[in-house]
Amino acid sequence: MSKALDGVRILDFTHVQSGPTCTQLLAWFGADVIKVERAGAGDITREQLRDIPDVDSLYFTMLNHNKRSVTIDTKNPEGKQVLEALIQKCDVLVENFAPGALDRMGFTWERIQELNPRMIVASVKGFGPGPYEDCKVYENVAQCAGGAASTTGFDDGPPVVTGAQIGDSGTGLHLALGIVTALYQRTHSGRGQRVLAAMQDGVLNLCRVKLRDQQRLERTGVMKEYPQYPNGEFGKAVPRAGNASGGGQPGWILKCKGWETDPNAYIYFITQAPVWARICNVIGKEEWATDPDYATPAARLPHLKDIFAEIERWTMTKTKFEAMQILNKYDIPCGPILSMKEIAEEPSLRKTGTIVEVDHPTRGKYLTVGNPIKLSDSPTEVTRSPLLGEHTDEVMAELGYSPEQVSALRTAGAI
Ligand SMILES: CC(C)(COP(=O)(O)OP(=O)(O)OC[C@H]1O[C@@H](n2cnc3c(N)ncnc32)[C@H](O)[C@@H]1OP(=O)(O)O)[C@@H](O)C(=O)NCCC(=O)NCCS
Repeated sequence: MSKALDGVRILDFTHVQSGPTCTQLLAWFGADVIKVERAGAGDITREQLRDIPDVDSLYFTMLNHNKRSVTIDTKNPEGKQVLEALIQKCDVLVENFAPGALDRMGFTWERIQELNPRMIVASVKGFGPGPYEDCKVYENVAQCAGGAASTTGFDDGPPVVTGAQIGDSGTGLHLALGIVTALYQRTHSGRGQRVLAAMQDGVLNLCRVKLRDQQRLERTGVMKEYPQYPNGEFGKAVPRAGNASGGGQPGWILKCKGWETDPNAYIYFITQAPVWARICNVIGKEEWATDPDYATPAARLPHLKDIFAEIERWTMTKTKFEAMQILNKYDIPCGPILSMKEIAEEPSLRKTGTIVEVDHPTRGKYLTVGNPIKLSDSPTEVTRSPLLGEHTDEVMAELGYSPEQVSALRTAGAI
């Protein structure tokens, strides 16, 4: 079966996490992704957090599936010529170097346009234009600057970063959407364009509801679904909301049977208004369904803490999976807190290709997260990440270089 992005060639100048997640998605949708790496070294993540000596790390392999790797020294004049040939042959150049690095290499937007006016140049940067535009940025810097850290954690503790890589992988996703959109516009404009996804912007986009709350707070001075209400104080900025659900349906994380020894024996429980009477029945508090202090969402808000404490008395008598089964029968929204071990072993995620076992020539078998976006006419087959420079000869031949020219360039250190 053909793939959605068949025929699209990506010059992948990305490294670490944000850029590689983007180009990996494009590869899964069928694009030919040619990863350009520094000879001898390659993407720094190849050797970071290694679990097997001298073998590409899981950090690298899990972010670079379905790509080809060529090594080029882009600061060597002959290496630059090879890169120029690639720019002429590709549709998209994706990069996430520190600000200015591509220009310093001699590949300004103007130069790239001279070489290929149809080229789309897509970049991840830490910040958009402004006071911080020249800063280097990693995941947690973006989480802090994008509003996630100040709104995550508990009121009596410091700001907290989340395990979800919303700065890196989140921005990679944003960039991928920008690229396919630019490719679509090119079908009628005939021109390339620049695509920028700043990590601060990507995180803020995912924290949209917190900017909503900032404005609600300024108007009313109080947000009744936050745990600070009615006993705590609201300041001038959106506070950390602990495990509150943030939407119109209050929720909290509750202990389940075994919590004393299992750090993940918890369930997320949502007191959704339409099923309130069923919740009362399940936990054995039938009288709450009609008691005016409990019967309506507005009446419940001032004592949510006590309500969740009562529900927890019930959840603590069940394992998270037992509770899930019972609550689902009554359409009560809830979710078990799954550990990474439980997720890795979950058969249904294997069946859908969300968790995939991949074989690698030097590492052997390992688990990875497959394509989370499923297209019915463009199925994803996850293949292993390339070894450093594994496809240099193959790609050089496709660019029209003879074996003699390739070996001369290799001797010159250009590739
Ligand atoms: C992630 C980041 C902090 C890493 O910084 P770094 O390791 O110092 O790497 P840089 O991006 O500065 O690139 C280092 C150099 O390698 C050079 N380089 C890269 N590939 C090369 C190649 N194939 N041949 C020769 N030189 C190469 C670059 O030109 C740059 O040189 P310069 O500083 O002399 O101009 C930085 O790239 C960054 O801020 N990126 C944008 C935001 C981002 O994506 N962050 C998330 C990462 S998950």
